[in-house]
Amino acid sequence: MLVAVPAETQADESRVAASPETVRKFIALGATVRVQSGAGLASGIPDADFEAAGAGIAGDAAAALADADIVLKVRRPEAAEIALLKKGAIVIGTLDPYGHDDAVKALADAGIVAFATELTPRITRAQVMDVLSSQANLAGYRAVIDGAAEYGRALPMMMTAAGTVPAARVFVMGAGVAGLQAIATARRLGAIVTATDVRPAAKEQVESLGAKFIAVEDEEFKQAETAGGYAREMSDAYKQKQADLVAAHIAKQDIVITTALIPGRPAPRLVSDAMVRSMRPGSVIVDLAVERGGNVEGAQPGAVAVVDGVKIVGHLNVPGRLAATASALYAKNLLAFAEQLIDKEKKTIAVDWDDEIVKATALTRDGAVIHPAFQPKG
Ligand code: NAI
Repeated sequence: MLVAVPAETQADESRVAASPETVRKFIALGATVRVQSGAGLASGIPDADFEAAGAGIAGDAAAALADADIVLKVRRPEAAEIALLKKGAIVIGTLDPYGHDDAVKALADAGIVAFATELTPRITRAQVMDVLSSQANLAGYRAVIDGAAEYGRALPMMMTAAGTVPAARVFVMGAGVAGLQAIATARRLGAIVTATDVRPAAKEQVESLGAKFIAVEDEEFKQAETAGGYAREMSDAYKQKQADLVAAHIAKQDIVITTALIPGRPAPRLVSDAMVRSMRPGSVIVDLAVERGGNVEGAQPGAVAVVDGVKIVGHLNVPGRLAATASALYAKNLLAFAEQLIDKEKKTIAVDWDDEIVKATALTRDGAVIHPAFQPKG
């Protein structure tokens, strides 16, 4: 059982899919582990640390991936990487299948068994594998740090001999995993925090963190959560009512952090250009949804845009801005995911194709796209 950890190929990807700790655990499970030289560098893990954990170091991707049975990835492998994989190799990673049917088909055509970990159902047994949560939590923290760094004033109230500095007002839009961590972080920094979400369950969570909840709480709001715990797309009428409420609120905020996502759909637009311009110059908006189309009008992926003196922060791969922590947690998620594909007694790969988690995450197998949501069109 050969487990391979290649270096990520995308230029802006600083994370790595294994850590010395998970390498040790894979070896204990009976695997041989091969890590591509330099794969951990951007996460602060030198080859020597992987080697000390028992991994072999391969000079390049071809050497790392040759004959691998399980390949651990952060991002979906690109064509050149797929070409290095043997038929039947298992690839585990955040494969970003929505809207990328062709890329999913390419994995199938190469005979890869591909698991998209972000499709892991949110059941208790799978919490340890939940890459969305582990990475979103860090993104929420980092969004506040990035927002505070762009903001030209202090966040906490300070009473000094030279005068009193007022506390900053921070508004968090979307109170899921990222939003809740953003609320907690902004509170720790001393800001006055408010938050909104379309899921009714979020209200209590927001309040338990010491923030005030701002939302139109009508009948539609009370029905807005799916059985899986995710947000539904809201009606145009609700969106308008909520936008009116939020518009007046945003004008008084110093930092706005948006985290709203709906699985498989473009991010909802929550902050219009007029709302941006209603904020005081020097205010900051951090759009964590920028990779999925953005919650904020005028946000630019990978840049800090300035509109009428208001900065809109649109960093890509925000968990990757905390690469060492993000990799450590991501690696643990992937280890937990891979563990369920391994027969611990026989120390061999044994996928239970009827398992709930396997069924929800398996994209391709035996040359075909097997996931119902990503069938090739036509
Ligand atoms: P997400 O990343 O899909 O979305 C972020 C937030 O944006 C969500 O709270 C969503 O309701 C909100 N949102 C969507 N449209 C919005 C709009 N128009 N206006 C305002 N907010 C909007 O969600 P995430 O962070 O993955 O979490 C979703 C839920 O799943 C949470 O309740 C979380 O606590 C729960 N969860 C459960 C787990 C488990 O049971 N194992 C593990 C992780 C999360």
